[in-house]
Amino acid sequence: MSRPRVLSGVQPTGALHLGNWLGAIRNWVDLQHSHDTYVCVVDLHAITVPHDPARLAADTRSTAGLYLACGMDPDLCTVFVQSHVRAHSELCWLLNCITPLNWLERMIQFREKAVKQGDNVSVGLLDYPVLMAADILLYDADLVPVGEDQKQHLELARDIAQQRINSGFGSEDHPILKVPEPLILKQGARVMSLTDARQKMSKSDPNEGSRINLLDPPDLVRRKIKRAKTDPVMGLEAGNPERPEASNLLGLYASLTAQTTAEAEQACEGMGWGRFKPLLADAAVAALEPIQKRHAELMQDPAYLDGVLAAGAEQASRVADATLARVQTALGLLGTAASR
Ligand code: TYM
Repeated sequence: MSRPRVLSGVQPTGALHLGNWLGAIRNWVDLQHSHDTYVCVVDLHAITVPHDPARLAADTRSTAGLYLACGMDPDLCTVFVQSHVRAHSELCWLLNCITPLNWLERMIQFREKAVKQGDNVSVGLLDYPVLMAADILLYDADLVPVGEDQKQHLELARDIAQQRINSGFGSEDHPILKVPEPLILKQGARVMSLTDARQKMSKSDPNEGSRINLLDPPDLVRRKIKRAKTDPVMGLEAGNPERPEASNLLGLYASLTAQTTAEAEQACEGMGWGRFKPLLADAAVAALEPIQKRHAELMQDPAYLDGVLAAGAEQASRVADATLARVQTALGLLGTAASR
């Protein structure tokens, strides 16, 4: 029997942080053993906001390197770059034509990002969730492991598949696209900013101190944790809405030391911040050290990484092209003689 399929991705926008790792990548690493797992670096998504073309290729390579350094094994899963598989852009166009505009206008992330950009909002930013739906639907993914912030985009992908494609062009017995399920694990799904625990940790926060990047050197990690916002209360606890900093940092500590939040809470309940912060810093440094070491090695060997990405793109294209052809046929496109 074939294994259930997983698809996910991260944008190569600047440095990846603890939220990306704990909310997404770390879960992929477990899933690759039991699921047919596809993970891509979503470079086409990264250009939906103003970007630096001189950095995109290097960031894409570095992000792919981080996938491997975090434990994604090309012998167990398929790692590729989104723009290397043309079907992503092509399916996006087909889905654009059947997706109501007002479904996109109500997307929370679009509204948040658009506000920040004033008059300079691209069509691509509005279209971001349709491209993401194409990413997922091309692979007939059963599960999409993401952080909490992606829930609405996943719902959109499901609605496009079910309400617009399957209901509109298929039949109940012959659905054209698989309707995917989000996989949002409780722990790590919402890592908050170190400087404002009511906001999520984010690559786009202008304050570098708000996040710990996976490639931050140990002294910087320690400094950021030392400066992280706290409260005047003694003792660490999770789940108290009056104490978002305590919840966030304790949750991080639990995730980094492979404990449940309840276990970490019990271990740290009597501690003041002065005792807890160095413990958290040690845990973060220890968790990141092997990732950084492996990433540095991979960056020294571009031929190896290129080989992994080329094989990944080939395998991904095989699956994606078949799905694209299915949708093209359902929509009534003629197709080439060879494809008929
Ligand atoms: P990106 O790059 O913004 O985020 C990548 C992944 O990291 C998760 N994440 C977090 N998890 C916990 N706490 C945080 N503070 C935090 N910040 C980010 C995100 O939920 C995500 O899982 N739109 C996607 C990229 C994408 C994608 C896809 C994902 C494009 N196509 C297809 C899955 C399937 C995104 O958020 O990228």
